[in-house]
Amino acid sequence: MIKTQRYGDITQFIMGRIMGEQLVYSMACYYVDGLLIDTGPVHVADEIEAAFADYPVDIIINTHHHEDHIGNNVVFQQKLGVREIFAHHLAVPLIKNPALWISRLRPYQHMAWGEPPASEAFPLDGVIKTGQHEFHIIHTPGHSPDHICIFEPRQKWLFSGDLFVRERVPTLRSDEDVTIMLSSLHKILEYDFSTLFCSSGMVVTDGREAVRRKIIYWEDLREKVRGLYQQGIEPDEIRAKLLGKETILYEPTAGDFGKINLVMSFIEGLKK
Ligand SMILES: [Fe+2]
Repeated sequence: MIKTQRYGDITQFIMGRIMGEQLVYSMACYYVDGLLIDTGPVHVADEIEAAFADYPVDIIINTHHHEDHIGNNVVFQQKLGVREIFAHHLAVPLIKNPALWISRLRPYQHMAWGEPPASEAFPLDGVIKTGQHEFHIIHTPGHSPDHICIFEPRQKWLFSGDLFVRERVPTLRSDEDVTIMLSSLHKILEYDFSTLFCSSGMVVTDGREAVRRKIIYWEDLREKVRGLYQQGIEPDEIRAKLLGKETILYEPTAGDFGKINLVMSFIEGLKK
């Protein structure tokens, strides 16, 4: 399913699968002034042409190579004539050849988003210009090594991909690094943005304050983890004491979204 929502000049495209009458594991792409940020999961490929009939796309930027962000690149290239798809240079080989990494996809990822077809992409750096806007590229690893955020200084928009998601996130994906994510969150605060446009679909108007609160939440948690870890307490017990039981996502994702992953990532960071 694809549905749209307007935020001033920006159109948000929520994309995802309907299962049991519910939209599950949805994500958001953003369109403004001929620029499309991310292309959604391949499971909605048949809906792309109709959904974008009134939204001519000139340039695409992929915030990172994950399957829910690049899945329809090839539809835009082959059916809608988009030539220019850009991503961080670390993402480019992974977008061109998903066979390098899709064997690592878990069953829930196949079910929710599917395998992205190979597509052409070019490395970007610095600034992308459209008719009305300049978009500055900020390398923000942690969720993945190739992750970028996209900043529009005049409007103070920040398209934050999967870096922010929401303020108090007690879980981590097993392949995320919370220490590097915290560095990236500090890094984006060096830019004068106000509204955050998240790939989760959240649009946060007090974006700077929300990022500060997220940093405080995670840094406070890190100090608590440090204290317990230095007392010799096992990671699973630290998770239980500080964060309680795993969420409902733990089982269906086979532990990919887990509180224990956050605790383990803090501990790995403390060892460095
Ligand atoms: Fe992602």
